[in-house]
Amino acid sequence: MLVLGIESTCDETACAVVRKGDEILSNVISSQIDLHAAYGGVVPELACRRHIDLIIPVIQQALDEAKINFEDVDLFAASQGPGLVGAIMIGFNTARALSLALGKPFIGINHVDAHLYAPLMHTKNLHFPCLGVVLSGGHTSLINMKSLFSYETISGTVDDAIGEAFDKTAKILSLPYPGGPQIEMLAKQGNRLAYQFRAGRVKGAPLHFSFSGLKTAVLYAIKDKELSFEEKCDVAASFQHAAFQDVIDKTVLAAKQYNCSRIVFGGGVTNNQHLRRMFSEQAGHLEHYWPSVGLSLDNAAMIAGLAYHQYKHRGGDTLDKEVFTFI
Ligand code: KG4
Ligand code: ZN
Repeated sequence: MLVLGIESTCDETACAVVRKGDEILSNVISSQIDLHAAYGGVVPELACRRHIDLIIPVIQQALDEAKINFEDVDLFAASQGPGLVGAIMIGFNTARALSLALGKPFIGINHVDAHLYAPLMHTKNLHFPCLGVVLSGGHTSLINMKSLFSYETISGTVDDAIGEAFDKTAKILSLPYPGGPQIEMLAKQGNRLAYQFRAGRVKGAPLHFSFSGLKTAVLYAIKDKELSFEEKCDVAASFQHAAFQDVIDKTVLAAKQYNCSRIVFGGGVTNNQHLRRMFSEQAGHLEHYWPSVGLSLDNAAMIAGLAYHQYKHRGGDTLDKEVFTFI
């Protein structure tokens, strides 16, 4: 069974063809970083216009690389949300139109659920329950994954998502967008003990996240100072380490509370090698799964892959299905 998946929730226009949930025949991602960099973040209206320009060429490239035609596709899938509504509509409506025109089924996929499918895509004989840890530009959540089809959100962020905190901190340091990779790069040359940063604790909710105070602490620490390159590296290293220590502490706590020793990481921030090392050092005794290269940042292979399993489990969606934007 061949699934064509489309992803357009934010600033990546992506299309992938995946066979039976795990064999990736193509995974085309067109990033809009160049477009948004000048503004220091994603401008929704510009993102939508770029999606409109790119969606058809990106789909055509995915078909070409997979060496198939539209007629070979068995199921059309698209991200249904959460994300920028206008942006989602472009990929979602394209998938619905293709489904209608070609008489093939359609299914809408939750983008966050797909991030948690990415690390499992090539894992055989996985046992549930797993503790899902979503670390992306829009989300920071702990999820009790009872099966591939039953997710219960345990906690989330009460303010900034972790990727958002990386991006905003990078902006404070006058680093280009997106900030996550820039912070990681600088942090490699910095001293993480130079600044005593700490992520927020949420009163009465020890598993919830709060990163806006951490970002503000960076702002105050460097206020009115002209930082040298070395000092910027120290800030980046201290910030990054504090953010990840918080994630690891809460993940380990949740694993204990939910009696779950399998951890599944998803989302763009999991690209960070320092996070992966820290987790292995501190909690390597827990069985854990990371997305492979090409599947951690926004992509359509995770959409097409999860779509295969969800379609087998619950069938397709009717074409009057709406996009959603709730978290
Ligand atoms: O999952 P994703 O591609 O999009 C969303 O669903 O939000 O995540 C994008 C986020 C951005 O905030 C970006 O700065 C962050 O992931 N990111 C990183 C790294 N690579 C991307 N954060 C920290 N370290 C990285 N290496
Ligand atoms: Zn994402």
